[in-house]
Amino acid sequence: MNTKTLANHFFSERSFSLPTKAFIFFSSCAAFLLLNYAHQTSHDEGRLFLYVLYLIVFSVTFFSGFIPGIIFAVLSSSFAVKVFVPEIREIVNVSIAEMELFPFIAVYFLIVITVDWFRQNIETLRKQLAENEELHAQTRRIEKLALAGEIAAGITHEIRNPLTVIHGYVQLLEKKCPKESGSEEIFKLILEEIKRTNQIITDFLRFSRPDTPKKEYVQLNEVLETVSSLISGEGMRKDVDICFYPTLDIPPLYLDRNQFIQVFLNLFNNAVQAMPNGGTLSVSTLWDKNKKTAIIHINDSGTGISPEVMEKLFTPFFTTKESGTGLGLGICQNIILAHKGVIGVESVLGQGTRFTIELPAPDTSPD
Ligand SMILES: Nc1ncnc2c1ncn2[C@@H]1O[C@H](COP(=O)(O)OP(=O)(O)OP(=O)(O)O)[C@@H](O)[C@H]1O
Ligand SMILES: [Mg+2]
Repeated sequence: MNTKTLANHFFSERSFSLPTKAFIFFSSCAAFLLLNYAHQTSHDEGRLFLYVLYLIVFSVTFFSGFIPGIIFAVLSSSFAVKVFVPEIREIVNVSIAEMELFPFIAVYFLIVITVDWFRQNIETLRKQLAENEELHAQTRRIEKLALAGEIAAGITHEIRNPLTVIHGYVQLLEKKCPKESGSEEIFKLILEEIKRTNQIITDFLRFSRPDTPKKEYVQLNEVLETVSSLISGEGMRKDVDICFYPTLDIPPLYLDRNQFIQVFLNLFNNAVQAMPNGGTLSVSTLWDKNKKTAIIHINDSGTGISPEVMEKLFTPFFTTKESGTGLGLGICQNIILAHKGVIGVESVLGQGTRFTIELPAPDTSPD
């Protein structure tokens, strides 16, 4: 246990910063010593000081926590004994007048217990409020996505139809245009842009209105091998070696095969695109027996991700690529979350990136 952990343990109140808690504690110690010293000079003031100590016990418990509060309650009690029984006889032999001492002591401890109880309730309430806030944010996000999905569906329909017509006529025009006119490049460009527009619409629709997963029992390694071979052409073209290290004891997972092909294609494509001068894309699978979870690591030796980009990585439409839509990782995350999995990322700028996906086995995540 290091000093900070010990200090945090001592000052159990978590809502204030460690320096604030320490400051309140030590200034209260100073105030206590001052009162103690002042009491030597005048006996009557002692009783007044006992009341002032309530305030100190209260603030120490409220700001610094239960243990410091108890310390002050004990110190204040010993002070009270000094005031009421100056000659410090045995407490059991106190006279009726001196019995006034006990309510004082009782109140010190009562303050600590009550304030601590309130403090803990406030802490619980604050946590609940934060959880509620998080839930609200999630609901708002889902509502927004649903609305975006509705709009996207409408727009997709409205745009795709004319786009198909334009695509058809451009192809027709291309055929009719004499080859020697030098217009091939222009037609190629127009057709590519139409294709790209279509892709953006499809991606947005997929992102905002993800299909309900059509789950079946799937061998994870087989899906990854399929995707590796799909990307191998692009890998060769970009001088990227693709290595696959499967663990063979992974049981079949219950998931939507097509959606996971899409997830791995997105991630593999990102990895290849991050290695413009070639490199290695290594994919490995592991099986965590205790958590009954399959783990997939996707490592690349590419450019890495800067902290600024890392912050916005999964934000829809965030892209650093000229022709990217910035929806790839958002789609991946949605699919993985819909399968009760998690996706994480670690990266070292200039050295590479590792995406880690964890997928629970069917018996640990019943539908
Ligand atoms: N393996 C990686 N290495 C470095 N940067 C990455 C990697 N994967 C993702 N990124 C960064 O995250 C951004 C968002 O990725 P995402 O897949 O969501 O969109 P995109 O690849 O830009 O566009 P799209 O997937 O639609 O073609 C990328 O633009 C890139 O900057
Ligand atoms: Mg991408």
